[in-house]
Amino acid sequence: MEELQKAPIGIFDSGIGGLTVAKAVMEALPNEDIIYFGDTARVPYGIKSQETVREYALEITDFLLSKNVKLILIACNTVSASAKLAIEKIAGNIPILDVITAGTEALFHFSGQEQVGVIGTMATVNSRAYERSILNRDPSIEVIQQPCPLLVPLAEEGWTENEIALKTLEIYLQPFKESHIDSIILGCTHYPLFKRSIIEVLNKPGVHVIDSAQAIAEVTRDKLGEMNALNESGGDFRCYVTDRPQRFQETAELFLGRELTDVKFVHL
Ligand code: DGL
Repeated sequence: MEELQKAPIGIFDSGIGGLTVAKAVMEALPNEDIIYFGDTARVPYGIKSQETVREYALEITDFLLSKNVKLILIACNTVSASAKLAIEKIAGNIPILDVITAGTEALFHFSGQEQVGVIGTMATVNSRAYERSILNRDPSIEVIQQPCPLLVPLAEEGWTENEIALKTLEIYLQPFKESHIDSIILGCTHYPLFKRSIIEVLNKPGVHVIDSAQAIAEVTRDKLGEMNALNESGGDFRCYVTDRPQRFQETAELFLGRELTDVKFVHL
């Protein structure tokens, strides 16, 4: 049992965006060892086909399993939408948590939802995975989806609160401004960085903003408790990437909110 408690949590994403999830997990579970995998050589996944995303996700899952993780978190919404079942198949008895299920769970912490907004990459929105997940719980909810592809490069540029970001959000969020949504789900790793700007542009004080990164951190804490696998003496953070693109360090630290020291390069 002690071995299980001391095993690391595996978190993966198409790139560095999932560091928003790693950050939320570190805050919720500071004593856990975390292995983060970012497929920086092949990002973005959000514009690729489901087949390709699935193939990449399975390679990363194999890698994390080889590190003897006790749990795998799919931080990437695009992977959650296209590859969860395939990942579960190869992971055997290692539990797989994903941001779409966690975000949906968080939505239902608030009762009386009638209309819900979802923003994500093109792939996530086209898969309708959030919509299916929400309607499974409550078929009477109307789900309004909006792809926001420009937000990923803007976040990586650090432009989340400037004039360009606000103008872009004005256009993307227009359908929600004209509707009566009760909540909006930030269905992409990069969107928590725009939280303040989204609240400002939406200008609807009663609307709940659901951050899937925070949601999956809470689900992880509950799951580890249930498994009796909570670590009380860890806290290491190790990062593996498939490429070190220009300005990697700077951008990664923007998402993680702290210094990133232990980064290794791997070729899958
Ligand atoms: N990580 C992706 C997601 O959450 C965004 C970046 C990408 O397109 O790969 O959907």
